[in-house]
Amino acid sequence: VASASTGSAARDGWSSRSAFILAAIGAAVGLGNIWRFPTLAGESGGGAFVFFYIACVFLLGLPLVLSEVFIGRAGQTDAVGSIKKVARDSGASESWSIFGAVGAMAAFLILSFYSVVAGWVLYYVGVMGADLLGAIAAGEPFRGALAGESQEAIQGRMGNLFASPGLLLAMHLVFMGGTLFIVARGIGSGIEKAATWLMPAFFVLLVGITIYGAFVGDMGDAIAFLFTPDWSKLTPAVMNSALGQALFSLSLGVAGLITYGSYINEGSKLGSTSATIAIADTSVALLAGLMIFPIVFAVGLDPAAGPTLVFQTLPFAFQSMPAGALIGFLFFVLILVAAITSSISLLEVPTAYGIGERGWSRRQSALIFGGGAFVVGIACLLGYNVWADVRLLGFWPLFAETDILDTIDGFTGKVMLPLGALLTSVFIGWKADRKMVQEVTGLEGPMFAIWRFLIAWLCPLAVTIILITGLFPAVL
Ligand code: PHE
Repeated sequence: VASASTGSAARDGWSSRSAFILAAIGAAVGLGNIWRFPTLAGESGGGAFVFFYIACVFLLGLPLVLSEVFIGRAGQTDAVGSIKKVARDSGASESWSIFGAVGAMAAFLILSFYSVVAGWVLYYVGVMGADLLGAIAAGEPFRGALAGESQEAIQGRMGNLFASPGLLLAMHLVFMGGTLFIVARGIGSGIEKAATWLMPAFFVLLVGITIYGAFVGDMGDAIAFLFTPDWSKLTPAVMNSALGQALFSLSLGVAGLITYGSYINEGSKLGSTSATIAIADTSVALLAGLMIFPIVFAVGLDPAAGPTLVFQTLPFAFQSMPAGALIGFLFFVLILVAAITSSISLLEVPTAYGIGERGWSRRQSALIFGGGAFVVGIACLLGYNVWADVRLLGFWPLFAETDILDTIDGFTGKVMLPLGALLTSVFIGWKADRKMVQEVTGLEGPMFAIWRFLIAWLCPLAVTIILITGLFPAVL
């Protein structure tokens, strides 16, 4: 169990550089890659969104990953304390640490709905698992999923789930409970162990199902859809959602990588470490696209189906596929694995804050924030039934039509994360002591110059423009 306050030797930490990389990739790879990315790419018409997203990842995201990891590595404590320390050592105001607190708040809010969505995944693991057991019992382990069920019946399962607050609550409870359990155990024996077991399993499943999709699905159409840009589709709204998705997927703007970076005990090479994280996360998103769209196209489904693409259309797609019962089950297990390694990082941010700034014990802190996020999550899931008419930010045109979960998702993703990214880039680009930055990151020569240009100039400008045009379309 970690002890309180600043960078003492007793503080818990990663056992090695690769353990950190694996845990950070685990945090980055999640529902964002497998569910949110294909959903947005499908809705936004494919290629143009995908290319703009990739540009955001490498021109804005990667410099920010390095910035957050740097702050954590230099600070060696929770996000707020780490920013304070870097500010102090740079002669800047400690009030910059406000973006650490805002980040912890965003992480807390994201966790609340993340657990609800992960609960849907858990439900489908149960549905597909029961179906697979039935198939095995019937002596047909390699049959399609949900044999004999009509498309309406399959899609109706989502509606049934949404109509049942009790079922949604039970799934949410189990997922949040699991997250809390891991985080309460700490870095070495909790988070690191979970990542080192789960991430390899995740990659095996991802590659396996993609290869399966290439054989039985329509890979050609999928590649054309994802990589042929139609630039007329690149509207300010699409750019805003691509930027938001890049930040969400890399876990940026919520101080998550500051927190994880603070558990790095030795060594430098933060540049290549950050690049590894960004490349891995983006590869997984693209692979997820290449896993899902061939199947979607093969059975003639609509790629723009929206957030239900994964939950409603894919089970139907798995019905007409050989071994669909088995693959479908594995598919949802895969998403669940990705979700838990991300949700633990979301809970770790406020938990570390409670330990470092409030002097709470790890268990106490995890319980307070995990319990709080659980309660907020209950409001999210009631938004699908009992509170279906509630509009949290109804006065704001952008959120006039969104239910509770979508409102929290939209507000954190479109407002809080870009704001966090903006403050991070200004702080690192203009306030942090250059010598210290160079020393701790280990970046040299032209690499350092390029990174500085991106973080000091491109990031603040691009994020501000995208934020304003996306949030207030009227200014155009
Ligand atoms: N990056 C995670 C995903 O893609 C979500 C996340 C956001 C995790 C912010 C931690 C912090 O699912």
